[in-house]
Amino acid sequence: MALLIKNGRVITATDDFHADIYCEGETISRIEPTISESDCSDDVEVVDAGGKYVFPGFIDPHVHIHLPFMGTNAKDDYESASKAALAGGTTTLIEMVCPGPDDEPLSAFHEWNEKARTLAAVDYSFHMAVVRFDELAKEQLRAIVREHGIASFKVFLAYKGALDLSDADLFELLKMAKEMGVITTAHCENAEAVDAMQKKLVAEGKTGPEFHEPSRPVCVEAEGVHHLSTFAELTGAHIYAVHTSCEPAVRAAVAAQLRGVNLWVEAVAPHLVLDETSAQRGNFEGAKYVMSPPLRAKPNQEALWNAIRSGAVSTIGTDHAPFDFHGQKDMGRDAFTKIPNGIPSVQERVDLVHHFGVRTGRIDLNTMVAACSTNAARIFGLAPRKGTIRVGADADLVVYDPECTHTISHKSSYSRVDYSAFEGWEVTGRAAIVTVRGEVQARDGEFVGTIGRGRLLKREPTHF
Ligand code: URP
Ligand code: ZN
Ligand code: ZN
Repeated sequence: MALLIKNGRVITATDDFHADIYCEGETISRIEPTISESDCSDDVEVVDAGGKYVFPGFIDPHVHIHLPFMGTNAKDDYESASKAALAGGTTTLIEMVCPGPDDEPLSAFHEWNEKARTLAAVDYSFHMAVVRFDELAKEQLRAIVREHGIASFKVFLAYKGALDLSDADLFELLKMAKEMGVITTAHCENAEAVDAMQKKLVAEGKTGPEFHEPSRPVCVEAEGVHHLSTFAELTGAHIYAVHTSCEPAVRAAVAAQLRGVNLWVEAVAPHLVLDETSAQRGNFEGAKYVMSPPLRAKPNQEALWNAIRSGAVSTIGTDHAPFDFHGQKDMGRDAFTKIPNGIPSVQERVDLVHHFGVRTGRIDLNTMVAACSTNAARIFGLAPRKGTIRVGADADLVVYDPECTHTISHKSSYSRVDYSAFEGWEVTGRAAIVTVRGEVQARDGEFVGTIGRGRLLKREPTHF
């Protein structure tokens, strides 16, 4: 069936105009001031977007769906995560493949990809985490890039003994990534510093979730960004700092950008709208708000929004990492170091950015589209197929009602997690219609699509 979206206000990263959009098959075939229904195929669905925005499908460049981590497994699979993403206006996910230090990269890639292939309703790609870097791993990483279209790596400077990479391996990996044109995304917190701080706090009897932030203060993250940037400066590698949470880390990133380091910066929804006081809630409720880097002191939020507006921060993702409060987060009742890290927000991201970013005037609509879609497409090799509205692009579109006020609750969330970090929050703005490659997959916050329809997006390396 063809699709005709009429009377909408089309917003891209650069433009803002009224037009009708006609989609045939999987792509956008016409964008004109007026397209009459009589000029379309007989089999056309007409959507009236009067009073609404039409955005390109949103891209979340940082999610965890299959995640064996901290002695447990994240709660979502591609069915629940796709439904959540689509209900919230996100049409493409980039998931982190996070194997353990003994796993072979290629079998990890196949394991993650197989889970997505059977259940995804969104289109998807992966960042390949490099946790092991011996000769076999190097060979397999090359094959993953060359044969499977995965053009980005992920490294963890954090999580000592579980996911972190030695400096020697990091340096070699960045040299290899540069030679291959692969961008390396990185979690920038020093594993040794965090480990030492955790031990000190626990020994002092400071075991509650409120001590998670003091165990990895802003200076640890800023040092991580500087550290990664130094290695990138020496190797020429292109890097991307994920989930940057605070002003000192942004300053370290901007300093590197000014030195000419090819560094892009990501913020994630939880850090933009939640602060450290959530993790200080009593009755162990604070555990729901334990993620890494931690939720910070409130002034850091304004710094992040300002950096998004200035362009120093390019993207807004989620770092969706869903662990139940009961049965998972509470594994850390006797020590915050055992609370599985993560806050889910793949369904809420777009509305949170619209409500707290656009409606407050912190960013404009074009910046919202750039940060939540277009920039990720450009950085990660999905453009021009994804991330914008143009003839020939995939018909991934979001007809967005900017006046729809609704209340966030875990009860209306498709994520399988048993809480929402935003429970009871009233936000204004909601995706009314969401399409992936020309087919409607969500309406008014409800998934109406097809499980298993999502496709792996093969990407070419561009970061030489
Ligand atoms: O707390 C977080 N961020 N959990 C997921 C793993 C990671 O570091 O991205
Ligand atoms: Zn991380
Ligand atoms: Zn993450």
